[in-house]
Amino acid sequence: MKHTLAQELLVSLTANTPSISPKFFYDDVGSHLFDVITLLEEYYPTRTEKWIMDTYRHEIADAVAHCDVLVDLGAGNCAKGSQLFNSIAPKQYRALDISKKYLEAAVADLQKQFPQIKMSAHAIDLSLPLAFPELQALRKVFFYPGSSIGNFDPEKADQFFMNLAHECHGNGGLLIGVDLVKDTETLRLAYNDSLGVTAAFNLNSLLNVNRLVGSNFELQDWEHYAFYNASQSRIEMHLRARSDVQVILPGNGSEDHLISFKAGDLIHTENSYKYTQENFVEKLRHTGFTEIHCWTDPNQHFLVCFANS
Ligand code: AVJ
Repeated sequence: MKHTLAQELLVSLTANTPSISPKFFYDDVGSHLFDVITLLEEYYPTRTEKWIMDTYRHEIADAVAHCDVLVDLGAGNCAKGSQLFNSIAPKQYRALDISKKYLEAAVADLQKQFPQIKMSAHAIDLSLPLAFPELQALRKVFFYPGSSIGNFDPEKADQFFMNLAHECHGNGGLLIGVDLVKDTETLRLAYNDSLGVTAAFNLNSLLNVNRLVGSNFELQDWEHYAFYNASQSRIEMHLRARSDVQVILPGNGSEDHLISFKAGDLIHTENSYKYTQENFVEKLRHTGFTEIHCWTDPNQHFLVCFANS
C-alpha cells in the first residue's frame, strides 16, 4: 500500500505538469475541512443542491419510482443519502467512499436510526471500474451528489457513466448533482473563500501525503491558488511554491528521490468541471441513459438529474 502510493506520487510529482490527485484531500482532517467548506457563504453548491433536493423531493421520488438498493457513490458523512430515505424508501443502502474510517462511523450511526434498511460501507477508489454482480437482479439507484463528477475529466466522466448505465442492467438509474457554468466571479469566490478554509483543505493534501509516504513538504513553502479556466469550463486548484523548494520522497528500501520546484511552480491538485444543462443531458444520453429528468434552482447555479438506464 505505502509502496504503491509512493510510486504513484513519484510519477505525478515529477511529470511535466506536477500533480497530486484530489483523492489525497480526504484524510480525516480533509474530510472535516470539506464539511466546513459546504457551510461557507461563498460555497453555493451544497446548499443549492439541498434546496433542489428538498423542493423537488416528490418529483424526484416519482421519477426514481422504486429502489431496491441506493448506491451512494461518495457518501462522506451519509447526510445526503439519508435525506432520501423517506421519499425514495430504499430496501438497502450501500455507502461507498474513499475514506473508510470516516464512512464506517457515519453508516454505523445511521443504521441505528434506520434499522429496517440493510446497510453496508465500502472503501473504494471511483477512478477504477465498478461492478456489483451480487446486486444484478435488483433495481439500483446510483446516487452521485455534490458535483463530485466535476473532478473527472470529461472523457473519464463518460467512461464512468457508461460503467454505471451498464451496471443498471436496464433496471435502475443515476441520481446526480452537477455544478453549472455561471459568472466567473461566483465560481472564483467559491474556491477562494474569505476564511481560508479552501486554502487549508488544499494545503492539507501535503500533510496527508507526508503522512502516507514520509515526504517532507512544509506548508509555509506553498500557497493556495484557484481560478476558473473558462476555455476548459473548470475550476483549477493548485499549490504554488512560494520559493525554491526541495522535497524528499523516501524510496522505501530503494533510493530516496529529491524533487525540486522553483518559486512559482505549481502542483495541480484538482479540476472541478462545470457543465451547462444542455451538454450535461447530452452526455448522459450518449453514455447510455434515457428519459432524463432535470431540476434546478431559480438562479440556475446547480442541476440535479435523474437518468434512467
Ligand atoms: C467535492 C469535488 C465537488 O469541486 O467543488 C471544494 C471539492 N474543492 N472546494 C468541488 C472542492 C474545493 C468539490 N467536489
